[in-house]
Amino acid sequence: MRTQVGIVGAGPAGLMLSHLLHLRGIDSVVIDLRTREDIEETIKAGVLEQGTVDLMTATGVGDRMRRDGFVHHGINLAFGGTLHRINMYELTGGRAVTVYAQHEVLKDLFAWFGILAEAPPSSDELIYAHSERGFALISTRSPSVQRMYFQCDPETNPDDWSDDRIWDEIQARVAGDGATIKTGTIFQRAILQFRSFVCEPMQYGRLYLAGDAAHTVPPTGAKGLNLAVADVHVLDRALGAFYEAKD
Ligand code: PHB
Repeated sequence: MRTQVGIVGAGPAGLMLSHLLHLRGIDSVVIDLRTREDIEETIKAGVLEQGTVDLMTATGVGDRMRRDGFVHHGINLAFGGTLHRINMYELTGGRAVTVYAQHEVLKDLFAWFGILAEAPPSSDELIYAHSERGFALISTRSPSVQRMYFQCDPETNPDDWSDDRIWDEIQARVAGDGATIKTGTIFQRAILQFRSFVCEPMQYGRLYLAGDAAHTVPPTGAKGLNLAVADVHVLDRALGAFYEAKD
């Protein structure tokens, strides 16, 4: 098989780069260890920043996102038994995040217990909760699948936690009149260790790293998918310039 650019990994970085190159008329082949079905069914990141949304829209792959995604103009901080809404939209002059699922400092201090549950949303926008029991984050993937995290000891064994205990813990951390957590079937649970990694250099000859292959970030900032897209936005321009000069 001959191609101009070979891309290893069909995550957001690989697929977006292939798409951007295609729009420039540059051929690429994307390969991955996993099957297409597996990739399309695994729920991973899900909060898209404005830059990611703008790039998807501008390059013609934003239709489903606009139709099925949910624009959040703010987040809620829960502490002292009350929700405090931060209007990101107003504070940033009209920028927002879009919930649309893509299917080292803190490393030794704590981890996050992450769950995916079949349940309705507990809030219109994300809730970041501070409580004496520790941090909790109420996020979402779709109207029927919710993503939630709570700070835990990195040694925690998720199998020691019954579903009821998990729901009680999350609710207790968003206590008072913060919010009522809507419960459901927990279908995935994991302890997420905090780790950061940046591979330098990110280039070896004609091989370029992008996304998780180039840098791994902890789940705290919802940056993984967004950084992957930002990386290939830059890489696409460089490859475009290279091929233009050759032509
Ligand atoms: C998530 O939905 O996975 C998520 C959202 C916001 C964050 C971190 C993770 O700050």
